[in-house]
Amino acid sequence: MRDDPLSDQRPRPTFQEILASDADSPPLAMFAENAPWLGSGDIDKARYFSRSWHDLEMERLWPRIWQMACREEQIPEIGDSIVYEVGSYSILLVRGVDTQIRAFFNSCLHRGTQLRPGGRGEGEVVSTSMITCPFHGWSWNLDGSLAHIPTRWDFAHVDEANSDLRQVKAQTWGGFVFINMDEAAGPLEDYLGDLVGHFERWPLEDRYIAAHVQKIMPCNWKIAQEAFIEVLHVETTHPQTLPYIGDVNSQYDVFGSHVNRMITPQGVASPLLPSLEEQQIADSFIKELAGSPGPGADENFSLPRMEIAPGETARKSMAALMRGNLTATTGVDHSGLSITETLDTTMYQVFPNLMPCGGGGVPVVFRFRPNGDDPDTSIMDVMLLYAFPQDRARPDPAPMTKLGIEDSWFKAPELGGIAAIFEQDTANMPLVHRGMKAGGRQTLGKPGVTLANYQELRIRHYHMTLDRYLGV
Ligand code: FES
Ligand SMILES: [Fe+2]
Repeated sequence: MRDDPLSDQRPRPTFQEILASDADSPPLAMFAENAPWLGSGDIDKARYFSRSWHDLEMERLWPRIWQMACREEQIPEIGDSIVYEVGSYSILLVRGVDTQIRAFFNSCLHRGTQLRPGGRGEGEVVSTSMITCPFHGWSWNLDGSLAHIPTRWDFAHVDEANSDLRQVKAQTWGGFVFINMDEAAGPLEDYLGDLVGHFERWPLEDRYIAAHVQKIMPCNWKIAQEAFIEVLHVETTHPQTLPYIGDVNSQYDVFGSHVNRMITPQGVASPLLPSLEEQQIADSFIKELAGSPGPGADENFSLPRMEIAPGETARKSMAALMRGNLTATTGVDHSGLSITETLDTTMYQVFPNLMPCGGGGVPVVFRFRPNGDDPDTSIMDVMLLYAFPQDRARPDPAPMTKLGIEDSWFKAPELGGIAAIFEQDTANMPLVHRGMKAGGRQTLGKPGVTLANYQELRIRHYHMTLDRYLGV
């Protein structure tokens, strides 16, 4: 085995070489590169399906990490509340009279009743002036302080000084509300590390939810997530995109323990194909993918034909077209975006499960988590976040479309062309999940999964962090 297997062997051009040939002015974050050698050992399969691993995640991961619970804009008014759940943890987020968002365990201090229903009612916004338990009516103010205990005479033993709702930490970044159940947790900003600086030019807090689709996935949450963490699978799973995606030109980076990134260039043909004309690249892009058509786009959306003049590149022309399209559909001037910011998929992962796109041109955010206490299914959220004119009122968040385990992504036309990509990804997932179990829960046969050194670096990276939290 080579000492440094990550260098020198990658197909050319590298993403950084593509960036240099763009000859425009992307932000510094696009020039950052960090792909350390993290080893090449197999990863035990049992972590993807065993009950004991799931239980360990519930005990040591989810109660100890910062995780995205909702967007600030989902509870904009005083008294708005929303429930966030992961496994059996249930958190109630409430905007108080001081406009601060607070998070509480969603559990009554009397006999434990959920103060707001979770389950598939999770994510629905309820507005109220008090937090009142539906069982016997104990109630709290919006800041979690105790307001009223019915038949107070019978609870002489209850100490009012110790009867406020049990609060968990809540902080915001990029318009997302993160919670952390660990009282000893450090600040969110420390947890996010380099991410904060990278997104300075792409303020997600200035965007709104133009689409939100939530689907039950037929596999463990990590398997669902890992379909979106590498583009090694594009050649086999999404071959129709190869004429305009530089799949194997992608760059993979890690930044600290909690953040990693993948940049996939668009507007260049995959090196895996025979050489294509620039016009063929552009035609394929127009034909196959609505890309990021803009808010309100539906399945009927189509881009006009784009003529590539002699000496021009499809990449440059595609960026100009998409910039103009974004400006027209959002009402926000996108003309200052560089080519890479406009076209390329620059997807970050915030450990363990949030994937926001940087760059400004691609609006996608993913989140993955277990579906209740079932290690065999999971919940995937897809949000499309678009800019809106900052001198106008923020558009209302789009209502969430909830898809069941059997539902096709095509039932969510607000996703536009990416629904077809998700269909292809989702078709693999039960095969991966069941295939991992092919040797039974004892993982007979080959007990581990094998990862590519570079293109699956992010999978190894987040599993290393996972191992640290779990102490395994
Ligand atoms: S369980 Fe909540 S008031 Fe009784
Ligand atoms: Fe995919």
